[in-house]
Amino acid sequence: MDYRTFVDEQVASIRETVGNGLAINALSGGVDSSVVTVLGYQSLKDRLKTVFIDNGLMRQDEPEQVVKIFARMGIPVEPVNSRSEFLNALKGLTDPEEKRNAITKTFYASVFGRIVRETGAKYLLHGTILTDIEETVAGIKRQHNILAQLGIDPEREYGYQVLEPLKTLRKDGVREVAKVLKLPAKITKRIPFPGPALATRIVGEVTEERLKTVRAATAIVEEELGRSKAFQYMAILLNDKATGIREGKREFGQIIVVRCIHSLDARAATPVEIPWKRLHRICGRITALEGVNRCLYDLTPKPPATIEYI
Ligand code: XMP
Repeated sequence: MDYRTFVDEQVASIRETVGNGLAINALSGGVDSSVVTVLGYQSLKDRLKTVFIDNGLMRQDEPEQVVKIFARMGIPVEPVNSRSEFLNALKGLTDPEEKRNAITKTFYASVFGRIVRETGAKYLLHGTILTDIEETVAGIKRQHNILAQLGIDPEREYGYQVLEPLKTLRKDGVREVAKVLKLPAKITKRIPFPGPALATRIVGEVTEERLKTVRAATAIVEEELGRSKAFQYMAILLNDKATGIREGKREFGQIIVVRCIHSLDARAATPVEIPWKRLHRICGRITALEGVNRCLYDLTPKPPATIEYI
């Protein structure tokens, strides 16, 4: 496929559909929503409103970095601080599916749904790709009807329209479009990071304090393994505790797992053989974090394990 032509066609189509109207989209910093943002902006300029919803589950400095990357491309992105809304929705939840549902519901029905109504935008740009549609049809993913998720009934509230410019592409195609659009490597080469963000790496309840721990451990792992060429690497906070010694005293402390995997498409994965020396360094840095006294390396392939922990 000629991706330059693809870009021209999508820009023309978005322009024609939206006309003089107002469109809105939510940017996460992942490659799909980033490509949609650039396509939308090239089509509509200031008639596109792009928001970055800070759910409080992001990695260190992630919201600021994403906004900055787009500012450098001349694309304004409005950060929306919704941290407490997400944390409140997660309060007391320990079941993985309940946590995921709470995040999805808070994102669509509360935060993004409210913003869409407030702006009066009638067009939503969404980064759905072909794989999402296939997985929804096959029953692997939850229903993917974005208007329904936003709590918008198109029949009752006539006029809302969802535009999905990437729906004929798979991930490799989106990356090609990203190259045509000259998106920086920080976006195109970014390792996969799930929508529910650090919540997928906290076993048990997600609290501000536990997020702080896993966020700091994640920063260490990403720094140490950034050149590993692995498909994905991460830090996970377990719900168990273990006895250790700190400054001569017994401490019942937190346990962090480091996971680093090779994979082609995330459907199967094998652990990476990280050199001992590097593993020791990672362990040393992670156990220097407050309250963490154990660091484990996960040797489990997928299957039987999944990549994330919830
Ligand atoms: P699992 O844990 O299912 O992950 O082996 C497979 C790949 O998908 C990512 N992942 C997600 N991505 N929303 C996403 O956008 C999610 O809810 C989600 N859960 C897992 C995961 O990081 C891995 O690359």
